[in-house]
Amino acid sequence: MDWKEIYKSKLVTAEEAIKSIKDGDKVVTGMGCGEPFGIEKALVEHYKEFNNIEIISMLTLGDSPWCQPEMKGHFTLNSLFASTSNRKAISTGISEFTTSHFYEIPDIIENYICPRVTIVMVSPPDEHGYVSFGTTVDYTKGTTDYCEVVIAQVNKYMPRTFGNNKHIRDFTYFVEIDEPLPEVKSVEISEVEMKIGKNCASLIKDGDCLQLGIGGIPNAVCAQLKDKKDLGLHSELVGDGVVDLLESGVINNKKKQTNKGRTILGAAFGSQKLNNYINNNPSVEIHPIDYVNNPIEIAKNDNMVSVNSCLQVDLLGQVVSDTVGLNQFSAVGGQVDFVRGATMSHGGRSIIAMPSTAKKGMISRIVPLITEGSAVTTPRNDVNYVVTEYGIAQLKGKTLKERAKALIKISHPRFRPHLIIEFKKRFNEDPFTREEIKEVIEDVKEQIVDDIKNKLNIGS
Ligand code: COA
Repeated sequence: MDWKEIYKSKLVTAEEAIKSIKDGDKVVTGMGCGEPFGIEKALVEHYKEFNNIEIISMLTLGDSPWCQPEMKGHFTLNSLFASTSNRKAISTGISEFTTSHFYEIPDIIENYICPRVTIVMVSPPDEHGYVSFGTTVDYTKGTTDYCEVVIAQVNKYMPRTFGNNKHIRDFTYFVEIDEPLPEVKSVEISEVEMKIGKNCASLIKDGDCLQLGIGGIPNAVCAQLKDKKDLGLHSELVGDGVVDLLESGVINNKKKQTNKGRTILGAAFGSQKLNNYINNNPSVEIHPIDYVNNPIEIAKNDNMVSVNSCLQVDLLGQVVSDTVGLNQFSAVGGQVDFVRGATMSHGGRSIIAMPSTAKKGMISRIVPLITEGSAVTTPRNDVNYVVTEYGIAQLKGKTLKERAKALIKISHPRFRPHLIIEFKKRFNEDPFTREEIKEVIEDVKEQIVDDIKNKLNIGS
C-alpha cells in the first residue's frame, strides 16, 4: 500500500486514539517542546473514563494537569524531572518522582518502568512517509521502538530535524493537531550572570567542544564566546544562546573527533529562533539521549567542556543541583553524564557555575554542610572547576583544606567570615594568613558599604 494510504488509515481523532489506553496502563509522553499537549488535553477532558493510569514524563513546560486533586485514582504522574508545575505535587506525595542519570533514562523506561503506550509529537510526513521527532528525540524516539501502542500528534509547527526520523508504518495512530510549540524565551542576562559567564569563558579555549545547559548562566557563557574560534557543540539540551554562535561560525564543529562538522543534541529547548535554526538544517542532528549523554560517547571528543549549574556546594566540593532539603527541585538530568564525559575526554574540563548567593542574596550557596535532606548530585570526586561571580575554584587534586580555601575565596564576601569560622572548627586551623584575612575583611567592608548604598539607592 502507498504510504499515504497507510497514513490515512491510521489518522484518527484524539478521542479515538486514547480509547486504546486501558485501565492500569503505563503511558510515557514526550517532554519539553515536544510534549503532545493536544492529545494530553483529550485525556484530561475524559479523565473519568480512565482508572489507575501512570503518566511517565520528564521536563514539562506545561501545567501538569495530572497533579490536580480530581485526577486522583485516574492519573498519577511519575516525573523524571521536577518542574514549576509539579514540584509541589512531588513534595507532597501526590505525584511520584523517579531519579536517574539522563543517559540511563531510555533503559530505565524500557526495561524497568515498561510502559505499554507512548504518546509523542512529530512533524508532518515528508514525501517518503517519514516523520521527524523535531525538537525532542531524547527518550521519546526510543519509546516508539518498543511500546505496543504508539500514538503521535502530527503538528505542522514541529520543526523537521535530522538524525532520527521514522516511517509512518511504525506508528499505531496519528492525530493531526497543529499548535505552536511551547517556547523557552531567553531572559535578560543579569550583572552577576555576566560575571559568571566571563569567568567560565576564561576556561574555554579555541577548538573546545561544549556542553551547555539552558537558562541564564549558559546564555551568559554564550555571550562571552563571540571571539572564540572553531568551537564544537555536543550537548544534551540547548537554548537560544547558541544560535548566534552557530550562525556566525564560532561553533563550526570542525575540531570534533566524532560527528565532525555537525552539532549533536538530545533536545532543543528554545524559542522559535532556535526552532527556525534547527528546521531542515543538516548541520544539526538530534539523537536519543542514551547516545548523546553516554559519557563514553561524550569523551570521544577531545577538549570537551561541560558547563552546568547548581544550588549548593559544600566546603568539600559536594554539589547539590536538584534538591533543596527534602524537596525535589529539578533532577540530575545530564549533569553527571557530562561531568564524567568531560573528565574522561582528552584535555576535557567540567565547570559547575552558580551565583554565590540565592534568595536575593540572603543565603550563601557555598556552605559548610549541605542542607539536611538534600541529595548530592555531583560527588566531590567528580568535581573539577566551580565558578561564581567572584572567581574560579579548581578542586581536582586538592586536599580537603585546599578545596575549602578555594571555595571560600569565591564565596560572597558577606558570608566569608562565617565560612572561615566553620573551616577553623572543622580543620582546627586558620584557613588564611593574617594578611589574607585582612583582605577578606576589606572585601566584607566594601560589600557592606555597597549593600547600604543599594538599600538607600544612592549609587556610587
Ligand atoms: N537553597 C535554597 N534555595 C535555593 C538555593 C539554595 N541553596 N539555591 C537556589 N535556590 C533557589 C533560588 O533562589 C531560586 O528561587 P527564587 O526563584 O525563589 O529566587 C530557585 O532556587 C532556582 O535557583 P536558580 O539558581 O535561579 O535556578 P536555575 O533556574 O538557574 O537552575 C539548577 C539551576 C541547578 C536548578 C538547574 O540548572 C538544574 O536543575 N540542574 C540540574 C540538571 C542539570 O544540570 N542538567 C544538565 C544541563 S540541562
